[in-house]
Amino acid sequence: MQPDYSNPHHILDSRTITEGNVAWRSPSNLALIKYWGKYGRQLPRNPSISITLDTCHTETHLGWQPRTSPGTDIDLTFQMDGMALPAFGERVAKFLDTVTDVFPFLRQLQLSINTHNSFPHSSGIASSASAMSALALCLCSLEEHFFGKEDDESAFLRKASYIARLGSGSACRSVYPFYSVWGAHGDFPDSSDAYGIDVSSGVHASFRTIQNAILIVSSEKKPISSTAGHGMMEQHPYADVRFAQARLRLAQLWQALQSGDWDMFCAITEDEALTLHALMMASRPGYILMQPNSLALIAKIRAFRAETGIPVCFSLDAGPNIHMLYPAAHADRVLAFIRDECVIYCEDNRWIADRAGEGPMPLNEP
Ligand code: DP6
Repeated sequence: MQPDYSNPHHILDSRTITEGNVAWRSPSNLALIKYWGKYGRQLPRNPSISITLDTCHTETHLGWQPRTSPGTDIDLTFQMDGMALPAFGERVAKFLDTVTDVFPFLRQLQLSINTHNSFPHSSGIASSASAMSALALCLCSLEEHFFGKEDDESAFLRKASYIARLGSGSACRSVYPFYSVWGAHGDFPDSSDAYGIDVSSGVHASFRTIQNAILIVSSEKKPISSTAGHGMMEQHPYADVRFAQARLRLAQLWQALQSGDWDMFCAITEDEALTLHALMMASRPGYILMQPNSLALIAKIRAFRAETGIPVCFSLDAGPNIHMLYPAAHADRVLAFIRDECVIYCEDNRWIADRAGEGPMPLNEP
């Protein structure tokens, strides 16, 4: 059963609206078992699990004041780092319009959004998960400001996750600390296709401090968007097998995460990353997002693991950049490996040291 958050009664008495501002910082996340394929209103074809990152995040400030001339559209000005970005603003306004069944009062307000990403705009790191989760959290805080608090924090986060999903599927996992599962799966009784859940408490201590070095192979905008890639899964020759495989792999990876089995973790994580890209190659039309330096880094990581026995592995998003994952206990040797052998494959030697993080943080109370 999907929750029904639509609330036609959440309309404000326009004489009493005062202006204000709410702000959240929300992180990006890295899927270990990938969401790839969707249907309906942003519902996943298979369940996924992710690590919530720490360093890569978006900070979003949502300001409001009463609207001078009421309308049926969304009245929004949008800025990134203080610069107007009308094309982006239009997309955000469109998204806000799609959630007016939940937040009908948005049409009564003049809204302004100012947003900042901790990672460079042109880093090739997807910002939709952090951006959409930060915005969803702001919207839920705004609603609480006007209409009172949710029963408890978990109800608040669940709703924020639901709203974030409507903006970008993977964003629904970013509202939780450390590890989150999105999509119904028998091993997680509370799991749902409609929102993510927090599964961190079941994860072995050594995985809570997992490190993620993001090796920037290319910062160029990717030629095929994730949304287009999801679409191609609808006619994909391997679709059914893939969706079943993701379910099975989630169960296996969950065993590894609970027991602290890094070897199993590395094997499944790498298989998943390669499968994602194999699915792209076998789409119609087939396409390749990895680049020669992505392959060079994969070979380097595997050789380093074989040589040292340190459980370092890689994952990839829908792009050429390599997410290197490793235990915090081996940070010294792995950092030397990155410096000495990996950065030469990175664009302008760029990489980002990230890790599993605590999840979103409110930056002010409205
Ligand atoms: C490969 O969440 O960006 O990163 O729902 O269309 O916004 P939309 O797609 P998006 O897809 C993410 C795909 C992925 C895997 C994952 O994060 O699970």
